[in-house]
Amino acid sequence: MTADNQHTKGSIATDILIIGSGAAGLSAALRLADLGKVTVLSKAEVTEGSTFYAQGGIAAVLHKNDSVDAHVTDTLIAGGGLCDEQAVRFTVEHSTEAIHWLIDRGVAFSKQDQEYHLTREGGHSQRRIIHSDDATGKEVSTTLVAAVKAEPNIQILEHYIAVDLITEHKLGNTAHDNRCVGAYVLNLVQDKVETISARFVILATGGASKVYLYTSNPDIASGDGIAMAWRAGCSVANLEFNQFHPTCLYHPAARSFLITEALRGEGAILRRPNGERFMPEYDERAELASRDIVAQAIDHEIKKFGIDCVYLDISHQDPDFIKSHFPTIYNKLLEFGIDMTKDAIPVVPAAHYTCGGVKVNLHSQTDLPGLYAIGEVACTGLHGANRMASNSLLECLVFAQAAANDIKSNWHDLTPPRILPAWDESQVTDSDEEVILNHNWHELRQLMWNYVGIVRSDKRLQRALRRIELLKQEIQEYYAHFKVSNDLIELRNLVLVAELIVLCALARKESRGLHYTLDYPELLAETKETHIAPD
Ligand code: FAD
Ligand code: SIN
Repeated sequence: MTADNQHTKGSIATDILIIGSGAAGLSAALRLADLGKVTVLSKAEVTEGSTFYAQGGIAAVLHKNDSVDAHVTDTLIAGGGLCDEQAVRFTVEHSTEAIHWLIDRGVAFSKQDQEYHLTREGGHSQRRIIHSDDATGKEVSTTLVAAVKAEPNIQILEHYIAVDLITEHKLGNTAHDNRCVGAYVLNLVQDKVETISARFVILATGGASKVYLYTSNPDIASGDGIAMAWRAGCSVANLEFNQFHPTCLYHPAARSFLITEALRGEGAILRRPNGERFMPEYDERAELASRDIVAQAIDHEIKKFGIDCVYLDISHQDPDFIKSHFPTIYNKLLEFGIDMTKDAIPVVPAAHYTCGGVKVNLHSQTDLPGLYAIGEVACTGLHGANRMASNSLLECLVFAQAAANDIKSNWHDLTPPRILPAWDESQVTDSDEEVILNHNWHELRQLMWNYVGIVRSDKRLQRALRRIELLKQEIQEYYAHFKVSNDLIELRNLVLVAELIVLCALARKESRGLHYTLDYPELLAETKETHIAPD
């Protein structure tokens, strides 16, 4: 028996609730559609998420000269000794199948001479990135959305933002084993909180890079899933490892525009303002060193020379090659008066990817029965201290399938979703001081950029923590007194994720991968994941 997707008087019953409509959420929905009613939430338009903006591509074992072992080895090296080798092998072993699944859904990857074209990115010893020009995410996202819309069993709810997860224990049923049974969600169009009950809930809410002032991510990346899972009692891991992408466009009129690493894969060179190449001074792999090394090198150059940015130069390549391989970037840069076939591109690092997240096992299960986490919100152990380029979309696909398989095997044990209590708004009023949200939002992101950025120290982290605690208290008071809104929900989540990032960073007494601290510049001989759990 399956739920009937009832939507009456602010109460929805579904079999599987998926919070998030990126590569992770949509592929899980498609894999589960034959099982029961699936409801997919998206807090903005269905395509709006990091997936849509992905440029470089998806890493997978596809070339005859490549192998699972080579992809595993490259991932382990990039991950700075902190990857879970079992998770890496599991992901890579499923990579070929994941790409064929996408091709079968209709994703059109770029071809050259009838073969799929594979590009290269930092940390990869082989050409293994399958892509759709320089707009891979757009192709994946639009194809999956079309497939989902064609499935009668899947319902997409756009402009619905999840506020919190509902658990047996939060409902006061402490005599039962704890379990996730649904979520409270704000219908942003009707400005009304609704209740969704479900047999299984999957978090696919993406990352938290919005916690930093400068980011390559779209606005939705506010760490909602990490914060909701934490409040529901789940542990998180490795949140100190925020990946800064080395090359985002530096231009006063540009907002969050990434210049793909595949440009360096195809020969682009990083230069100082005077034209000198500098990456060989930092790593023998030069521009194709892993991302942590390139971002730290650029940060060092910018601080050492007091410059605003460095330059990425591919103008030595054939103009037709540039225009045909990177049409999105070429056209976007022209809007800013930059012709990349002739000019070097001004670039700076920006927050790009949340390597840590909600701790899950190889079945995508969190600590809370009934709750799964997939995609960027999760910490599977694949990325360790630094994610290798283009391993993220792969992780979304592989762990969405793992969650779907696990749900299928546990399907018959469960009773259908039941009616849950409605959201209680009796104690809150309309906000009279929206300015607090605006101010705190900016202050938080600025302090995270200044004190918890590419180079850290205990003093800066402590300073950040003190300010975060004050902001958290103020935001919590605001939340207790006023009606929820999109901005309030996101800010409440961001300040919690900021606190968790700093706590993880303070716990790591070494410099490893993306976490570099002046107080502990060396690697420890023995290390492990930073794993923290709510009290
Ligand atoms: P997302 O695609 O970010 O989707 C998150 C979804 O969750 C959205 O639908 C959002 O609305 C929803 N959501 C969030 N919170 C809530 C809430 N509270 N309630 C309801 N819905 C919610 N990776 C690669 O492997 N290759 C690349 O080439 C690549 N290029 C990138 C380029 C850019 C510019 C960026 C930003 C990232 C890139 N990445 C790349 C990383 C990769 O795109 C992301 O890690 C991946 O797409 C994350 O997918 P996801 O499904 O986990 O989340
Ligand atoms: C890029 O195209 O440089 C981004 C790739 C990634 O984040 O994996």
